[in-house]
Amino acid sequence: MSRVSVLKGGRSLERQVSLRSGARVEDALERLGHQVVAIDVDLDLIARLREARPDLAFVALHGPDGEDGTVQELLEILGIPYTGSGVLACVRAMDKVLTKHLLLEAGLPTPEFFAFSQTAFRDLGAADALGAIEERLDFPIVVKPAGQGSALGIKFARTAADVPAALVAAFSYDSRVLLERHVEGRDLGVSLLAGEPLPVVEAVPRDEDFYDFEARYEIGRTDFLCPAELPAAVTERAQELALRVFELLGLYGFARVDLMLDSAGELYVLEANSIPGLTDTSLLPQAAEAAGIGFDELVGRMLELAAARAPA
Ligand SMILES: Nc1ncnc2c1ncn2[C@@H]1O[C@H](COP(=O)(O)OP(=O)(O)O)[C@@H](O)[C@H]1O
Ligand SMILES: [Mg+2]
Repeated sequence: MSRVSVLKGGRSLERQVSLRSGARVEDALERLGHQVVAIDVDLDLIARLREARPDLAFVALHGPDGEDGTVQELLEILGIPYTGSGVLACVRAMDKVLTKHLLLEAGLPTPEFFAFSQTAFRDLGAADALGAIEERLDFPIVVKPAGQGSALGIKFARTAADVPAALVAAFSYDSRVLLERHVEGRDLGVSLLAGEPLPVVEAVPRDEDFYDFEARYEIGRTDFLCPAELPAAVTERAQELALRVFELLGLYGFARVDLMLDSAGELYVLEANSIPGLTDTSLLPQAAEAAGIGFDELVGRMLELAAARAPA
C-alpha cells in the first residue's frame, strides 16, 4: 500500500475532464488498497504536497500546466515520483509544432503545416503570406493552437474568408498557431501502455458535426469503435507508428497518439498526448479494456511504472 496524491482539476480549460479522470482514478486506487489524498491543484499545490508527503503522485491533469511539464518539474523538485512522462517528453508532446518538426525530422508522416506566433502577424506582416499558404495547403485548412487539447480552438476553414476568424479563435488559446493540411478520413487513436501499443480506437462522430468538439465528451455523441475495424496491415502500421512516436518524443509509461487514416490508406500523425483522458468515455481506458486490462489494473500498472522510474 502506498500513499498516493491524485493531482486533478487545475485551471486549464480541460479542468472538467481532469476532475472526471481524477475521481475515477481515486476510486480505483482505493479499491487497490492505496491511501489516497486528492489535490485539486491551485496556488497551494506545493504546500499541500509537502503536507501530504505522498510516496507517489498520480497526475490526472490535462492541458497546459498539467500535461506540459510544469507540474512534472515541480514534482521533480520535491522529489516525488509521478505517473507518466518526464518533463522533456511532456514539453515535446504538448507543443504540436515541436512534435511535428520532430516527426518530419524522423521521417514520420504528419500533415503538411505552417506555424506562426502572434508576433509574426503583429510585427512581421505574416497575414500577407496567407494567400501563399492557402494555395499550398488547399481548403479546408485546419487551424489550431500549438498547445491545447480536447480540440479546443480548432477550426476548419473552408474558404480564405474563414481563415482570419479561425486564426483569431486559435490565438485566443495560444500565442502560436498552426495551419495544417486537412486529411479527409478516419480519426484513430493508438494508446500505449508500458511501451506497448493497445488496440486501435476509431472515433466516429454520430452526427458528422465535427465542428462541435464538445460532443466527444458527451456520452453517446461520438461512437468509439475498439478495436477499430481496419485491415490487419493498417492496424499494425498504426500501432508501429504510434510506438515510434512514443519513443521519438521520449514518452514514458503511457500515452495516446492521434492519427488520421485517409481514403488511400495513408496514415498521418496529428499529435501525441502525454496524459490522455481517463474518464469513462476516454480512449485509453477503452483500448486497455479491449486488451483485457480493466480500469483498476490499468491504474495499478501506471502506478507501478511510476515507481519503477523513481530515482534511487
Ligand atoms: N489535419 C487534420 N485533418 C483532419 N482532421 C483533423 C486534422 N487535425 C485535427 N483534426 C480533427 O480534430 C481533432 C483534434 O485534433 P488534434 O490535432 O488531435 O488536437 P487535440 O486533440 O489536442 O485538440 C482530431 O482528432 C481530428 O478529428
Ligand atoms: Mg487529439
